[in-house]
Amino acid sequence: MTSAIKSLAPTPPMGWNSWNMFGDNISEAAIRETADALVSSSLKDCGYNHIVIDDCWSVKNGRDKNGNLIADPKKFPNGIKALADYVHDKGFKIGIYSDAADRTCGGYPGSLGFEEQDANLWTSWGIDFLKYDYCNAPLYNQAEAIKRYTCMGEALRKTNRDFLFSLCEWGNQSPHLWGRQVGGHMWRVSGDVFDSWVNVAMKGWFGIGIDVSIDLAHDLHTYGGPNGWNDLDMLVVGLKGKGQISGSGMSFLEYQTHMSTWVMACSPLMIGCDVRKMEADTASLLMNREVLAINQDALGIPASRVKQIGTCEVWTKRLADSGTAIAIMNRGSRGEDISLKARDIGLLETPKLARNLWLQEDIADFRVDLAQRIEPHQTILLKVSQS
Ligand code: GLA
Repeated sequence: MTSAIKSLAPTPPMGWNSWNMFGDNISEAAIRETADALVSSSLKDCGYNHIVIDDCWSVKNGRDKNGNLIADPKKFPNGIKALADYVHDKGFKIGIYSDAADRTCGGYPGSLGFEEQDANLWTSWGIDFLKYDYCNAPLYNQAEAIKRYTCMGEALRKTNRDFLFSLCEWGNQSPHLWGRQVGGHMWRVSGDVFDSWVNVAMKGWFGIGIDVSIDLAHDLHTYGGPNGWNDLDMLVVGLKGKGQISGSGMSFLEYQTHMSTWVMACSPLMIGCDVRKMEADTASLLMNREVLAINQDALGIPASRVKQIGTCEVWTKRLADSGTAIAIMNRGSRGEDISLKARDIGLLETPKLARNLWLQEDIADFRVDLAQRIEPHQTILLKVSQS
């Protein structure tokens, strides 16, 4: 079933997506500046190598006389091809967005009935990635969803250009069960994650809080793996309540728990904040190479929750070098002192090196147990190598 699907996403895709920060206020200038900033900040060197143009890039009221989508000339005065050339020259791949119905979520033309034509147009522009949304399509009809995504997957493959195919059905119709079959390399598992610890309803939108995504990551962990990832949604790290996506922002430790969860779950890591103005605390969360290495580990095994200690949870993830990544997460509202026992998480009671990845420090010998203080909504990430 998967043989026709190229190995375009052996590890979770990384990059930047326009939606969380810019919404319909996107422009060619902002995306060029973002590409420049991804390079100058070293985010690109850390692996963030896709730039995805989300909804609202085309002319809203229709197609041209040949039925082709038209890039909005006000937002993209030089067209998408010129922008693709610009970001390709800097070593990025470029993504675009459409929808499996006649209209996108923002009310722009969708691709239903135009799958091959649109795939060919994007090919002529040099597009490498498609995020395919599901607004205005039947919500509770799995066979129809599979049909619409299959149709676009086939259209993309017919072009003979490599397209990374990102399914954005929000998990209502279990895309983790059929995402690979339709050619998808990643599939959203929820509605839109907002810049908030708990679920929020704002401005007529319903948003998922990070505390809810954490449970989804555990529930679906067996479905993610090389070339087919559970997509927990774009990152909200660094938005600080300023993005177009709703939510009033989170504390540093909450953003750290958000990042730790996405990393451990092998979720794609698509930055959503304005990287042209990235602050040092945000950079420390997005650019910790030891943390990113856990997400990009070659085995590609998503973490699962193995132990509950009061309000704290322990998650583990097996790594290609025989090490184990461990997340200790406090979802409660009071600080906790916990003692993590090697035996409880399947580790031998032998000498082992434990490294705190967020701090990039080796910590005390962890033979039998390890005492840790964990603040509310904090996550400590460890890597343990058996010696
Ligand atoms: C949906 C998707 C978002 C974004 C918007 C654009 O809500 O889930 O990620 O693409 O549409 O309108």
